[in-house]
Amino acid sequence: MISDRDIIEKLQDLVQVDIDAVHAYGQAIEKIDIVSVREQVIRFQEDHQRHISDLSAVIRRLGGEPPKFSKDFKGFLLEGFTAVRSITGTEGALKALKSGEDFTNKRYSDARSWSLPMDILSIIQSNYEDEQRHLHYVEQAINDRVWETAGVTR
Ligand SMILES: [Fe+2]
Repeated sequence: MISDRDIIEKLQDLVQVDIDAVHAYGQAIEKIDIVSVREQVIRFQEDHQRHISDLSAVIRRLGGEPPKFSKDFKGFLLEGFTAVRSITGTEGALKALKSGEDFTNKRYSDARSWSLPMDILSIIQSNYEDEQRHLHYVEQAINDRVWETAGVTR
């Protein structure tokens, strides 16, 4: 079985990914001008915040220090998410989120195979299912080209 110290390090990495995701969602939300999409994406951002608090509680229980919530991207989510800054509109925001979600899905998918106590694995599995839901929604919205549909509210 993996040592507590190793578990703490792995969970700290995951929390950093979720912190970056919260920032990325924050930037995307500002660029999404379709109310229903924005509301959905706000809920996804709340999921990432919950991941941070749940995993931080585990880290503390194991005697570790959870990462502090930084004001900026720390670079744990590269490429797509950081590119949110340079794009405009709902289309660009969704495409940037898609690329970020690919990354968070991969990280959580990998984490499911870590040799961890069951209670921690079940949190990771639940977070992974959130990530799957986020990715499917974003992919569907891109496929549907929601930015071309009527009812845009600015
Ligand atoms: Fe996500």
